[in-house]
Amino acid sequence: MAGSGSGVGQTVTVNDAAAATTDISTGPVVPDTPAWNALVAHAAQLGEVDLRTAFANDPERAEAMTIEGGDLLLDYSKHLIGADTMALLTALAAETDVAGRRDAMFAGEHINSTEDRAVLHTALRAPADAVMSDADEPDHNVVDDVHEVLGRMAETADRIRSGEWTGHAGRPIRTVINIGIGGSDLGPVMATTALAAFAADHIDTRFVSNVDGDDLGEALRGVDLDETLFIVASKTFTTQETLANAREARARLVAHTGDEAAVAKHFLALSTNAEGVAAFGIDTDNMFGFWDWVGGRYSFDSAIGMSLMIAIGPDAFNEMLEGFRTMDEHFLTAEPARNLPMVMGLLGVWYRNIADLATLAVLPYVNDLARFPAYLQQLDMESNGKRIRVDGSPVIGETGPIVWGEPGTNGQHAFYQLLHQGTTVVPADFIGVLEPHHAIGEHHDLLMANLFAQTEALAFGKTADEVRAEGVEERLVAHKTFPGNRPTSTILAPKLTPHVLGQLVALYEHKVFVQGVIWGINSFDQWGVELGKVLAKRLVAEIQSDDAAPVTGHDSSTNALVERYRVARRTRLG
Ligand code: F6P
Repeated sequence: MAGSGSGVGQTVTVNDAAAATTDISTGPVVPDTPAWNALVAHAAQLGEVDLRTAFANDPERAEAMTIEGGDLLLDYSKHLIGADTMALLTALAAETDVAGRRDAMFAGEHINSTEDRAVLHTALRAPADAVMSDADEPDHNVVDDVHEVLGRMAETADRIRSGEWTGHAGRPIRTVINIGIGGSDLGPVMATTALAAFAADHIDTRFVSNVDGDDLGEALRGVDLDETLFIVASKTFTTQETLANAREARARLVAHTGDEAAVAKHFLALSTNAEGVAAFGIDTDNMFGFWDWVGGRYSFDSAIGMSLMIAIGPDAFNEMLEGFRTMDEHFLTAEPARNLPMVMGLLGVWYRNIADLATLAVLPYVNDLARFPAYLQQLDMESNGKRIRVDGSPVIGETGPIVWGEPGTNGQHAFYQLLHQGTTVVPADFIGVLEPHHAIGEHHDLLMANLFAQTEALAFGKTADEVRAEGVEERLVAHKTFPGNRPTSTILAPKLTPHVLGQLVALYEHKVFVQGVIWGINSFDQWGVELGKVLAKRLVAEIQSDDAAPVTGHDSSTNALVERYRVARRTRLG
C-alpha cells in the first residue's frame, strides 16, 4: 500500500506480501511474528483500498471509526484501512505488550534502559494525593516533590504577575525572556503561543534558543533590562547554546546595572543541575528543579513551563495539567480499539511499516497551534528516530516518521499541491476546534470549511470522468484529476483551552510511546545528538585558534570549509 501510484490512479496499491521479510526494495520489512505476518497478509489481501468504495459499501464507516477521549474526537475513517485492520493492529499492540510497557512506565520502572532511568513525566500532572515512585526508590513519592515545586512556581509566578517581584531598580517585570533550546524551548514556546488568549497583557514573553546571536539580539530589541526577567531553562545546564546566550544576557544585565547583585533579581534557573546553576552564578533559591526521570521533550509541564505559568497564571497552568491527566487516564483505561493514543500510534505503524510511507504531516487549523508541528518534531523524531532496539540489535524495518507541518490554511497555498497530486502519499493529522477565541467575521466558518474540504478532497479526489463531465478539454483532464485515497485523521476539540492543550500534548506523547514499544526501541534517550556536539566543541577551538597553519585534522571537505571560515573571521576581526 505504498505511495507507488502514478499520481493519477484512483487507488493505492498494497506492496507484494511475499517479499515482506526479505527485501526492502520489494515490500514491507517487518519482524517475522504472528501479528506482523497477519498484518502483511491482510495488506496483501486488502490490495487496493479505495475510499470511495469503502465509504459506499459501509454507511457506518465514519461512526465505527470515530472515537473520543476526554474532550478530543478522532475520526480515522479516511485512512487506507479495512473494517478489520484495527483489530489486527491491536493484536500487534498485544503481541508487543504495549499495555505492559505502559504500566511499567507509570510504575516507574527504568524503561529508559540506556540511561538507567525511570520515565515518569506522567507524575508531573498527577494530583497532589497521588503516589508514584521511581521503582528504585519505592518509598519516595515523587508526586510530593512535583507539588512542592509547583507550589513554589505558583508563588513566584504570582509575585511576578502582580508586580510584587521587582528588579534591581525596584521596577516590576514587563518582559520575560526564556533562554533554552530543544525541550527547554519548544514546549514552552509552543504552549505560550497556543494559549496566547489566556496570557496576561502586561507581560511580554520572549524566547531565545539559537546560538545565532541574531536570536538573542532580536529578543533583546527594545527591552528595558530594569524590567526584564531572564529564565535560563536547561535540564543539564551544560548545553552550549543556552549557556552562551545566558552568559551574554548576564553580562548585559551586569553592565547595565553595574552590580553583580542584580542577577538575583533578574535571573531564574530551571534545571536538574543545582551545581551547574550555582556555578553559573544564579542563586539556587531562584532555581526550580525537576528530575532525571523527566525527558527534555516531555518537560514543559514541569518547572520548564515557568515562562508559560507566568504568562497564563498558575490556575490556567493547573487546568492544563488536568488536561494532561485526563488523557493519561484515557490512555490507561480505554480499550485499545477506542484508545486515541493507541489508535493513532497503530495507524502510524501501518503506514510506516506496511505501506512504507516516510512522513507524517501535522496540520493544525488553529493558528495558535502554529508551533505545534515543530514541537512534535522533537517529541516524535528525537524519541523514535532510532535504529537499534532496546536489546542492542538492529530494528527490523522502519521506525519513526519524518514529522512536519504548518497551520492551515497557509499550507494549502504552499505544499498541499504535493499532498493532492504528488507522487508520494503523506498521511496527515488535521486538527481543528469547534469554537474560536475571537469573534472576527465569518473567519472560523471559513477556516473549518477549508479543513473539511481538504480531508474530503484528499480522500475522494476527482476522477477523470468527473473532470470531463465539467467540460474540461481532453489535454487537461489528467492535470485536473485528483487521485484521492490520501489518508487523514481529523482531530476535533471544543476550543483551544489550557485543558484541551494538555490533552492534545499527552495524546501525542502517548502515541509516540505506543510506537516506540512496537518497534522495540528506547523512546527516551537521544544518543544521536551527541556526535555533532562533540565535533562542534572541537571545531570551536580550531576556528578560534591563532595558529596560522592550515586546518588538516578532518576530511578534505571539512578542512577546506573551516579554513575558508577562518580566513573570513580573521578579516572580520582584523
Ligand atoms: O540536544 C538535544 C537535547 O539534549 C534535548 O534532548 C534537550 O531537550 C535539549 O538538548 C536541551 O537540553 P537541556 O535542557 O539540558 O539544555
